[in-house]
Formats: sequence, structure tokens, C-alpha cells
Amino acid sequence: MINRRKFLHFSALAAPLLTAKKTFASNFDAATRPIVVSTWDSGMPVNAAAWEILSTKGTALDAVEAGAMHIENEINCCVGLGGYPDRDGIVTLDSCIMDHKANCGAVAGIERIKHPVSVARKVMEKTPHVILVGAGAQQFAVENGFTLESTDLSESAKKAYAEWLKKSEYKPVINIENKKQNGPFAPNFFDDGTLNHDTMGLVAMDITGNLSGAVTTSGMAFKLHGRVGDSPIIGAGLFVDNEAGAATSSGTGEEVIRICGTHLVVEFMRQGYSPELACKKAVERIVNRDKVKAKTLQVGFLALNKKGEYGAYAIQKGFEFSVKSEK
Ligand code: GLY
Repeated sequence: MINRRKFLHFSALAAPLLTAKKTFASNFDAATRPIVVSTWDSGMPVNAAAWEILSTKGTALDAVEAGAMHIENEINCCVGLGGYPDRDGIVTLDSCIMDHKANCGAVAGIERIKHPVSVARKVMEKTPHVILVGAGAQQFAVENGFTLESTDLSESAKKAYAEWLKKSEYKPVINIENKKQNGPFAPNFFDDGTLNHDTMGLVAMDITGNLSGAVTTSGMAFKLHGRVGDSPIIGAGLFVDNEAGAATSSGTGEEVIRICGTHLVVEFMRQGYSPELACKKAVERIVNRDKVKAKTLQVGFLALNKKGEYGAYAIQKGFEFSVKSEK
């Protein structure tokens, strides 16, 4: 029998607030469930990994973990152990995961662990806590069977760090999608060699209609040792509410934390805003705090509601997201 199912599998640019010439108020169509959406163009293979679970009636929780693990496996990627180090040359990873019952777990500043998202899941499932940090997170990971990996930087990270050390400027960059990148997982550079975007966040709805999400990142490149961004903070880098929807973010984490960004997006969806408008209103909250500073920042939000509608919005142009569902 001919398989007539059509699959929706693409990446799209989020509407930008600062450079938009018109209002992007339209919402993407609702897709049939299951569905997975993830940040950036590099979310395409991440979604494919999640889809293997969703399309066989697996849970959204398993799917988002599988998606995050997929990109953590990429040694020359901008998240995971192949990511860029902090200013002391140490790769520290942040991750979180959240399910449809508001169970959640996170690790921050964890070193030498290949799959921080899976450690985050263990924190969620095996402890009464939500976040473990630094040495404690690593100790917990080892106690739970995770292997300590080498401290060596990936080739791309080594090169970028050596370049950065020449000036050692502590300057977060605006992260945008750069089509000049070499393949879906390659670190994304501007023409002058500085790092472009970072975080992988994904949210999914499974066949039963339950939502989950996960985020994984090496955080801001060349950050202060110990700096934690939005990614492992529930309500900042990720929030899931099984009645209203789920949201994730990418960009300058400090700005997302200041407004509890993804919690805000989900609350706007609860009030009836479409995912795209909910993201837009959260972006406006950041921009309205400091319009001058906003010109130097990129933050993007990506959201999925209970109807399977999704949408995204960013401060600047260049924030892409990826979608996979069966239409
Ligand atoms: N959004 C990633 C970070 O700020 O670390």
C-alpha cells in the first residue's frame, strides 16, 4: 500500500521585533499531534531523533531527551562537550528537562559529562530536588553511572578559544543563524570568526497530547567560570504547562532570566494568545526594559500550545526554529 502520509519537516525564521517592517501576527497552522519544535536550523536532525520516538507512540519526555542527546553527541557542535569553553578554558554544561506533570530536573555548570540532559532527567526522577550544580552535579552523575569524559577541547573549540585569548574581551555576541555554516551541527560563526548561536531547546507533544521540553547548552562562549544562563532555569530557558503549552528560549540568558521568559510566554498562551504573539509579548518585555541595550542583544522564544500550534519571535532577525510533525 502506498504510504500517503505527509510529513511537515522544515526550519523557518522567527519574526524579529526590532527590524520587522510589518506586524507578524499570523500563527502557524495547528499540526496534528505528535509534533516537536526546536530552536535553530540545527534543530532539524534533533527533531528527527525526537520523531523516532514520537512516531512510534513514545512519550514527549523520551522524545525531548533523545533530541537533546542527539546534539550532545556532536563533538563539533556548539552545545555539549564539543562546545566552547568558559574564559578559563573549561567546558561547563547546562541542561534541564520538564514533563507534563511539572516534574523537572536540571544541572548547571557540569563538567566532563557527555549527556547533561540525561543527568537532568535523573535529578528529576531520582531526587527530591530540581537543580544540581558544578562538582555536586558531576558527583551525582558519576554515582548514577555516567562516565567522566576527557577535559580536552574539541578542535573547533580549541581554535576559537585560542583566537579569543588574543583579545580576551568579555563581550556577549548577538547570536543569529548564519547560513555560511558548514553543515547542521557546525558551530555557527560570523565572518570575523566570533561565535554565533548556542543553545538547543526543544518542546514536544506526544500522541496522547502530553507536553515536555528539554534544553542543553555549553552556555555563553568564554563566560566567567561559574556563570549560569537561562538554559537550566525552569521558567527561564524552559517551561511546560500541560494545560497551556510549552516554551523554550535561546540567546542572552541573563535577559531571559530577568523576565522569567518562558514562564511568561506560557502564561500569555494561557490568557489566549497564540504561540507567536505570546513569544512576541515576552520579547517586547525585554526590549521595553532597555531599548538601547536591546539593539545589542538577541533573544528568541519558541512556543507550542495544546492545539499543536507553534510560533516564535525574536529581538533581531536571524532566529530560526525547526518543526517536525505528521500533517
Ligand atoms: N541561552 C544560553 C545562555 O545564555 O547560556
